Amino acid sequence: METIAKERYKTITSDFSSETGDSIIDYYTEAGPDYEYWSKNFNMHFGFADQTWDCLSREKMLQRMNERILGTLALKKGNKVLDMGCGIGATVRFGSKHYPSVKFIGFTITPWQIKKADAIIKAAKLTDVEVKYGDYNKLPIKSGSIDAVYGLESICHAEETSKKGPLKEAYRILKKGGRFTMIDGFIKKPEKELSTLTYKMYRTVCENWALPSFPNINDVSSELKELGFKAVSIREISWKIAPSAVHAPFVSLFFLVKKLIKGEKLKRQNWNNLKACFTIFFLGLCRKSIGYYEITAKKD
Ligand SMILES: C[S@@+](CC[C@H](N)C(=O)[O-])C[C@H]1O[C@@H](n2cnc3c(N)ncnc32)[C@H](O)[C@@H]1O
Repeated sequence: METIAKERYKTITSDFSSETGDSIIDYYTEAGPDYEYWSKNFNMHFGFADQTWDCLSREKMLQRMNERILGTLALKKGNKVLDMGCGIGATVRFGSKHYPSVKFIGFTITPWQIKKADAIIKAAKLTDVEVKYGDYNKLPIKSGSIDAVYGLESICHAEETSKKGPLKEAYRILKKGGRFTMIDGFIKKPEKELSTLTYKMYRTVCENWALPSFPNINDVSSELKELGFKAVSIREISWKIAPSAVHAPFVSLFFLVKKLIKGEKLKRQNWNNLKACFTIFFLGLCRKSIGYYEITAKKD
């Protein structure tokens, strides 16, 4: 499965993988285990500091982000929810504990993550939750069969700054009245309008986190409307993310020191993750160019 997945994905990743040599699957297979240093529950996203004291616990902020994104979907008993790019299933696992009688399905293109998620789900005896292999540009799901779809820091891996592929797929699989939410880092202007320094940091993050580009907030909003989504609502939540983003360089440093003390050799993907974690902190300070947003929409 891994070889087929890699082959299928080579074309999609060919332009951005030329500098680091990594595809999305290579990156997440090699650097994936490093995320345990960021979150004991393998939350592979930034946290949401909803209340003042949240800042004291990174894991609390990370779980709050799960609470936040699922809270936007107005979930009801019997609903079927799909996670586009679920990682090790942190959000679907959180959902299965907090929303009884709601069915959660997560899709990822990284086979290692499926194995790891399966083991965690089995050990925790969670029900109504599964993590499966699937490319969010072309999911093995019937049209109009899902009540809610979301992407948490995952749709950024799609092609073009409009991220058209997964947005179109979300529209296709949603039932009428179904809800869509995307939470991610965005650029606020076209790439070519970024200052030289911002662009340099931006590309460093893209290359090292296996992203072809960040989504552009205006392009994504236009794309959703063009596809037919209604009630498109955009909220900038950069300040809510900032307290957890501050942790990134420190966690990276801790990871590095621990590995060096143990005498473990770091692979290229581990170094790439470290570089991106340091750079994202400074890139996040470029407030006119970069922001963290929550976009919600509805299929009418
Ligand atoms: C930063 S991780 C976020 C994971 C998860 N949403 C979370 O917050 O813990 C990005 C995820 O997107 C997945 N991904 C990237 N491209 C994908 C695609 N075309 N189809 C499905 N999943 C994809 C990766 O395998 C990875 O699991």
